[in-house]
Amino acid sequence: MEETVQKGARYQRGMLPKVDLTGRLERSTALDRPIRALSRAIREKLGKGVLRDLLHGVPTGAPAHPPMATVTLGCWVATAVLDATGADPRAARTVLATGLAGAAPAAAAGITDWSVLHIEQQRVGFAHALANIGAVTLYSGSLALRLAGRERAGRLLAYAGLGAASLGGVLGGHLAYRQAAGANHAEQVTHLVPLGWHNLCELKDLPEGRPVARRLGYIDLFVLRTGENVTILADHCSHLAGPLHQGRLVSEDGTTCVVCPWHGSTFRLSDGKVVHGPATAPQPAFQTRIRRDGVIQVRPAQHG
Ligand code: FES
Repeated sequence: MEETVQKGARYQRGMLPKVDLTGRLERSTALDRPIRALSRAIREKLGKGVLRDLLHGVPTGAPAHPPMATVTLGCWVATAVLDATGADPRAARTVLATGLAGAAPAAAAGITDWSVLHIEQQRVGFAHALANIGAVTLYSGSLALRLAGRERAGRLLAYAGLGAASLGGVLGGHLAYRQAAGANHAEQVTHLVPLGWHNLCELKDLPEGRPVARRLGYIDLFVLRTGENVTILADHCSHLAGPLHQGRLVSEDGTTCVVCPWHGSTFRLSDGKVVHGPATAPQPAFQTRIRRDGVIQVRPAQHG
C-alpha cells in the first residue's frame, strides 16, 4: 500500500514514467576529448568547397544524410522480412548487400554534418555512429557467412545487425527531433512576422557598412546599411541559430555574402540563398523601404 502511494507521488496519474537514457548521453562528458579531436580532424580534412557542400546537402536544400540512411535501413529491414518468410536466399543476399553499399555514402554525409554540431549533439551522434558501425560489421559478417553457404548463421548475425541498426536509428531520431540537428532553425521566422510593412528604426541610427542586430517583434534581424540601401535577413542562422550580425562580409562570385561566425555557413545577402554549408535551408530575407521621415520599414520577402 505504502509503495503504491510512493509510486503515485512520483508519477502523476495517467502519465508514463520517463526514461531519459538519451538525455544522460547528451550530458556525459566521458568521451569529449576524442570527440573534439575527431570532429576537428574531419573539419580540417574536408576543408571548404564543393565536396563538403555536397555531403551536407546544400544543392538539394536539405541534409543529405537522412534519405541515404533510410535506404540502408530499409534494405536491412527487408532482409529480415525475407529471412523470416523463407524467401529465396539470393534475394536476401542482394538486398543486404545493397544496404551495405548505401552505408558508406550515408556515413560520409553523416560524419560531415556531425563535425559541425554542438558538443551535446556530437555526444549522441558519436554513440549513433558506434551503433551503426556495429550494424555494418554484423551485416558484413552475415553476408560473408551466407556466401560461404552458412545460411542459418548468416541470418542470426543479420538479426543482431538489425538490433544495432535500430539502436542507431533511435539515437539518430533523438539527434534530429529532440536536439534539432539538421533542422532549419530559421523556419519559424516568417510565422512570427504578421503580413504587411513594419517600422524597424531610422536610417540615421544604422552604422555604415557594418552589420548590426535589430529586433522586430519576437525576432532578431541582421541589418546592413550601405548608403541608402538596407539589407535585412533573419539574424539566427538556419543551421544552428548562430548570430549572423557577428559574421564576416565576403564577396562570392561578385555578390556580397555573410559568413556565420559559428560554423561558416555563407548566405547571399540579396535573398538569403545558401552559398556554402553546413546550412542547407536559406536564410529568411526581408524587403525594405524607407519613408520620407527616414524610418525603415520591412516585410518578409515572400510576402511581396
Ligand atoms: S550556426 Fe552553424 S553555421 Fe551558423
